[in-house]
Amino acid sequence: MITLFSFALVVCASSLHAEAQDSGSRTKVYANRGDNITLPCRLEGQSSLFGNRIKWAKLEDDSSETNVLISMGPHKKTYGNFQNRVYLLEVDDNDATLVITDLELNDYGTYICEIINGMNDKIVEVDLELQGVVFPYSPRLGRYNLNFQDAETACLEQDAVVASFEQLYGEWRNGMDWCNAGWLNDGTVKYPITKPREPCGGMRTSAGLRNYGRRDKSNSRYDVFCFTASLKGRFYYLIQPKKLNFDEAVNTCKRDGAEIAKVGHIYAAWKLQGYDRCDAGWLADGSVRYPISRPRKNCSPTEAAVRFVGFPDKKQKLYGVYCYKPQP
Ligand SMILES: *[C@@H]1O[C@H](CO)[C@@H](O)[C@H](O)[C@H]1NC(C)=O
Repeated sequence: MITLFSFALVVCASSLHAEAQDSGSRTKVYANRGDNITLPCRLEGQSSLFGNRIKWAKLEDDSSETNVLISMGPHKKTYGNFQNRVYLLEVDDNDATLVITDLELNDYGTYICEIINGMNDKIVEVDLELQGVVFPYSPRLGRYNLNFQDAETACLEQDAVVASFEQLYGEWRNGMDWCNAGWLNDGTVKYPITKPREPCGGMRTSAGLRNYGRRDKSNSRYDVFCFTASLKGRFYYLIQPKKLNFDEAVNTCKRDGAEIAKVGHIYAAWKLQGYDRCDAGWLADGSVRYPISRPRKNCSPTEAAVRFVGFPDKKQKLYGVYCYKPQP
């Protein structure tokens, strides 16, 4: 029943960008940042004369729920970050499908729909998955310098959020191998290994996510795994005649009506748009990197990657610059 209904709904709402797939009683919805999406939910059978009470909530990492939208007849209330971004589709009296507009990085996760009408109540769970990319991050200060709050700030500053276990696991299955431990958003510290070796958890340990477990959020310091999703604006290498120092790089992007790109921008462009450029360029955090999606001689010959040159002296006039132009 659920399969038919959710499928029908997605077809009806085909102007909304959503791809729903049913696995048992759970529905999975895949989407991109900025999309408007529908999370299907409906009651079967007769609807009540008095209308349904509908509650949508989002499941947090600690298993608590935060309210998204509550509806009783004509009365509707939306909450927190979802205010003015969510509404009910209301195809008919039995429909409790939720629309979320302008999807944000933090919106991924599990949503719970509760319909209460006194006769046949119903609870539905919908998983919302965002297409994106996970990248490891450490600041200019160097490796293992971030407590949990610093980690959250560091990702935000790079147009990203701290990655979830599922997101890092997905990236590991796609071949990610990184030998520095980083925070995840559940407060645990892990790192992904696809090629087991001695300094990274041992030769004899099988490939997988190495786990340091839950760490003291204030006093433990690690790197972080950040997650970002598709770009709404344009990422590009700014072609100009001379090499630049950092301040010149910032100003050159400004003069082009843009801003100097963030680390999240270069990863999103590389992974989701196949951006490829063999020129080392400044980024907003003072690092220098370049994105290679077609490995070749002298340009990351062995693997597609965002290559990290380092955090050079900001006065050095040795690099180009990557800019980002947000959509007007
Ligand atoms: C999403 O919905 C909003 C409000 O309903 C609308 O203004 C916007 O154009 C829609 N965006 C897309 C990508 O369809």
